[in-house]
Amino acid sequence: MWNKNLQAIVLAAGQAKRFKTGRTKLLEPLCGREMILYSTKLLEGLDIKTTLVVGHQKNELIETVKKHHKNVTFVEQNKQLGTGHAVCCTKDLWEKETVLILNGDMPLITPQIIEQLYSAHHTNKATISFVTAHLEYTHHFYGRVVEKNGITEIVEAKDFKDDPRNYQWINAGIYLIDTKFLQKNSHLIDNSNASEEFYLTDLVGMASKQGHTVVTVPASYERVRGVNTLEELWRAEQVKRSDLIKYWMSQGVRFVKAQNVHLHMDVSIGAGTCIGGGVYLEGNTVIGKNCTIREYTRLENATLGDNVFVRSHSVITDSTIRDNAEVGPFAHVRSESIIDHHASIGNFVEVKKSFVGQESKARHLAYIGDATLGKNVNIGAGTITCNFDGIQKHETSIGDNAQVGSNNTLVAPLTIEKNSYTAAGSTITETVPENALAFGRARQMNKEGYAPKLLGKLKDKNNSPKVQVKKKKHPSSPTCSSKSKARSRRLLGQGKRKKTHRREK
Ligand code: UD1
Ligand code: CA
Repeated sequence: MWNKNLQAIVLAAGQAKRFKTGRTKLLEPLCGREMILYSTKLLEGLDIKTTLVVGHQKNELIETVKKHHKNVTFVEQNKQLGTGHAVCCTKDLWEKETVLILNGDMPLITPQIIEQLYSAHHTNKATISFVTAHLEYTHHFYGRVVEKNGITEIVEAKDFKDDPRNYQWINAGIYLIDTKFLQKNSHLIDNSNASEEFYLTDLVGMASKQGHTVVTVPASYERVRGVNTLEELWRAEQVKRSDLIKYWMSQGVRFVKAQNVHLHMDVSIGAGTCIGGGVYLEGNTVIGKNCTIREYTRLENATLGDNVFVRSHSVITDSTIRDNAEVGPFAHVRSESIIDHHASIGNFVEVKKSFVGQESKARHLAYIGDATLGKNVNIGAGTITCNFDGIQKHETSIGDNAQVGSNNTLVAPLTIEKNSYTAAGSTITETVPENALAFGRARQMNKEGYAPKLLGKLKDKNNSPKVQVKKKKHPSSPTCSSKSKARSRRLLGQGKRKKTHRREK
């Protein structure tokens, strides 16, 4: 097995000064995956033993990598003195015949690049092999390959004495180095250069000058581009995202506006599904076959069965929507909710930590929290579960075929048994038994013919000459007409106002 003679070192200690965020760039996500994990997962896929050099934000990096890998080892570079110094920090762990060194900031590299590099290195019995790419001189971030008089060197952009535009092959930052050579020469790297750093790349010139074989292996720039700035992160993420979209297209997924869909690495989508513009599919979202996800919807760790219809501007997180169910527009389903087969969650409805049974419906302006709904339940517009008493959350259970009227206030803990009915506008605080009709509201009283009388009284009061009131300290204090005002208020059902002074804030 070719990879058994190999061990990998990934350089991840740098401060990412060009990012200007103060944080390590290696924890920035691309398509939902932290940049460092692209290298570590690639190496794990190739079954190559890996050491990560960490420094800046080492604890966060180690924690992230450990979540995904059991066998990665970590070495600390206390001071970030350059890539050559970073590699030297790992010298106690050099045990295999050949060391594969990777910059940690290349999220787009493929296993084929590593395999080709190894094959060229092995065939040519090289001492050092490294990957190159063709790039016209547009900016000065890359080391350039300089070949003169049979000597191959890498010259960092900052250190060029002649015109760097003459050199269009860049060093990608992926090297295979014979371990014996590394042991003999790594300590000879110095920092007499423009950056005053210990450059790993100096080893290439050293090997070449000592008469060792140095091999370059070209790759597409697109795949080996480094990520040194936020702009480069954006560019790299676009490449990754279009890779993903092209893949899902090849699996029968239609993207109405592929250029503005945001897709994470671990998302999976069934054939026949159609994804609208501006949709975000994040985390471990799984979408079944023949679903429709309309524009500006966000699914994060959502599991959708087949034939699910999610209308625009909906947010579904950590929840399951089963076959043939409908959600949205403007719906929010979260916290391990389950919307069962053929159920329907409509406009401005929030469902939190709840089970909505088969064919049940909450189509308009509702809050369903900590609730279990049976089959074929109908939740009227404006109904809410009052699940929180200020200290604890309480549950609501609604049986099969129950009809909960519009604008109900369901005070949990509460049970509404099957086949029952609650009247619109009710506040339900007690169990509603099976087949019962529950009213929880004040009865309406009509005063026949009273509307014109009331209006007349109000008009008279408005036209009566204003009583002169001597201004007191509190302008909001009641005036001498308070008796008639109180009467009008009573008639309007507004109750009596307290005679205390309200202080203006
Ligand atoms: C490096 C190469 C350059 C190459 C380019 C490819 C050197 C001197 N230059 O430049 O020839 O064209 O990559 O993208 O190697 N790091 C450490 N410790 C340090 C410094 C850096 O671990 O002291 C890590 C960084 O976290 C990063 C990687 O090494 O993951 C590369 O460092 P970076 O500063 O990005 O190197 P470049 O300037 O891009
Ligand atoms: Ca870089």
